[in-house]
Amino acid sequence: MPVLAIDAGTTGVTALVVGEDGDVLSRGYREFAQLFPRPGWVEHEPDDIWTATVAACREALAGTEDSPTCIGITDQRETAVVWERRTLHSPRPAIVWQDRRTTGICDRLRGDEERVSRLTGLRLDPYFTGTKYAWLAEHEPRLWSDVRGGALALGTVDSYLIARLTGGAAHVTDPSNASRTLLFDLEKGAWSDELCELFDVPRSALPELVPNSGVVGTTDPDSFLGLSLPIAGMAGDQQAALFGQACFSPGMSKCTYGTGSFVLTNTGSTPVRSDAGLLTTVAWDLGQGLVYALEGAIFVTGAAVQWLRDGLGLIDSAAEIEGLARTVPDSGDVVFVPALTGMGAPHWDPHARGAILGITRGTTRAHIARATLEALAFEVRDVVDVMVDEAGLSVPELSADGGASANDLLLQLQADQLGVPVRRPKITETTALGAAFLAGLGTGVWGSTDELAQTWALDRRFEPTHGLRDDGRHDRWKDAVGRAGSWTS
Ligand code: G3P
Repeated sequence: MPVLAIDAGTTGVTALVVGEDGDVLSRGYREFAQLFPRPGWVEHEPDDIWTATVAACREALAGTEDSPTCIGITDQRETAVVWERRTLHSPRPAIVWQDRRTTGICDRLRGDEERVSRLTGLRLDPYFTGTKYAWLAEHEPRLWSDVRGGALALGTVDSYLIARLTGGAAHVTDPSNASRTLLFDLEKGAWSDELCELFDVPRSALPELVPNSGVVGTTDPDSFLGLSLPIAGMAGDQQAALFGQACFSPGMSKCTYGTGSFVLTNTGSTPVRSDAGLLTTVAWDLGQGLVYALEGAIFVTGAAVQWLRDGLGLIDSAAEIEGLARTVPDSGDVVFVPALTGMGAPHWDPHARGAILGITRGTTRAHIARATLEALAFEVRDVVDVMVDEAGLSVPELSADGGASANDLLLQLQADQLGVPVRRPKITETTALGAAFLAGLGTGVWGSTDELAQTWALDRRFEPTHGLRDDGRHDRWKDAVGRAGSWTS
């Protein structure tokens, strides 16, 4: 009884058909356009996301004779989508989580930050959906009056895709996605009227909250490849990856190296708070109450490698970075701070911008490549250090996944910086796997999380090299981070 998983990520949509033993039977993938209408703005055409979803699913379904019995969905979180309830057409592009246009709104609401953080576990940062809705309310009043009037629906990408898949029958979201909007009361597990008022969002325009596992609708054959399949699982992509890594017990941690890097530690039924730059978020709700996670959200990881490729032309493909970085023993004292869209955890500085320091006449593209991989490892260390030192969690090992986890050098640098082992599973498309697990759990493909944990298989474990965590390079990195801060303010 296979499951079809849809992972609608920031740069493309992956579809996997997952078998009962957790193996990937086939896959499909489609990229879609990234729109940068102004510096700091990032948009997606919802129609492009939908077209890519259908094409990726068609490709995955064509790759196997086994027909799926249900669908699980996971998505780039926080991105704000608006669509017409009647036609499912979007009157404007989606405002993507990376978009920085709401920096001014956040600065203006700073007086409410403590209350907002208390209720949501988040921060006032352009990253989150509520600020994007506030911007639309302020700058596109005609559109917003249609939102208020009920003609237009609001949601993150999960809600939008489910609306499209069901031909408009369902307008739903789950607590893991909702907990990223700044509109969700973390402890009550419900939309907050107080926050809706603060961000000028009509409560009636928001999707209905449903658990992460269990049937929430059926695909409309006219809209989706002639198929009538139950949609039985959903979660934001980082929480789905935590689930796909089988981090079911409190204390288990994973890092997904995607467009950004996202470190999440399961904290069980307790929402652990941080004053030092981490986010408290919902991991999932399997119908037995909310499970929480502590998260370090780092904005630029794969995006930095993409920039080396597309912006600088330093490499021809992202996969080349490891070989190039290995041609030098170290970065030659070059430090790259990849704050290309500001800084997320634990610094939270929307005014920061990228910097490359320490360049000499002897610096080559190999040193820049190596400094990039080192930066990705330093960023994750900064987050894990806060989890341990401030939040009092123990992180005895880290499970790695996502595109860049294929990079052995990166994972070795990571283990060296953390001083604990980093383990990589055989299947690193853990985000989609988590969505498949949630859907399969909701329809009886798998009976329990214990059964799911049995499917986790180790590919390789990276042990930390003695003495490298404290060799001084991290201090130099911290110095460079300080210099890249507050650049645009
Ligand atoms: O919070 C943003 C995150 O959900 C995006 O993930 O994998 O698309 O970079 P990804």
